[in-house]
Amino acid sequence: MTVGWSSPVSFKPPLIGVSISPERYTHEIINETGLFGVNVPTKEIAKEAYYFGTESGKNLNKFKESNLTPTKGKTGVCLVKECPAVLECEVKDAPTYGDHTFFIGEIKNAETEEDYLQENGFPDPKKGMIFWNSSGDKTDYWTFK
Ligand SMILES: Cc1cc2nc3c(=O)[nH]c(=O)nc-3n(C[C@H](O)[C@H](O)[C@H](O)COP(=O)(O)O)c2cc1C
Repeated sequence: MTVGWSSPVSFKPPLIGVSISPERYTHEIINETGLFGVNVPTKEIAKEAYYFGTESGKNLNKFKESNLTPTKGKTGVCLVKECPAVLECEVKDAPTYGDHTFFIGEIKNAETEEDYLQENGFPDPKKGMIFWNSSGDKTDYWTFK
């Protein structure tokens, strides 16, 4: 699924949080496995990223219906091959705030394609990795248009 509501949480240990509604199929999968992957898309696959945020895996196999390829990370979590930066996270806490669960995960493995980075190790803004912060429902997401 596509997530806009995410945040770094700690350097040591390295923690990241994602806010996910219990209505999402992904919520069920994270609860079952205790793992989640964070895949940073590029502008080239923005359409697919939007698709993954508007259809549910409850009803169909989103990978089969799109041009994206599933792979498995070192922890066994499902990752997206076309994403140049990926994080594999193990759930450490899952508090509920209002109508979302904030899954806090410890990063167990991180991989980035070197081409997308600047010399200082930060993402090169010219290479088109995107971070998508959004709000609203299916017909009302903020976009880069
Ligand atoms: C740009 C974008 C950002 C989204 N951000 C979130 C989010 O932060 N948390 C959330 O619960 N749903 C978010 N959604 C909605 C889910 O991605 C969407 O409901 C998805 O179909 C859930 O898929 P699933 O049922 O296979 O898990 C977002 C959707 C889009 C398009």
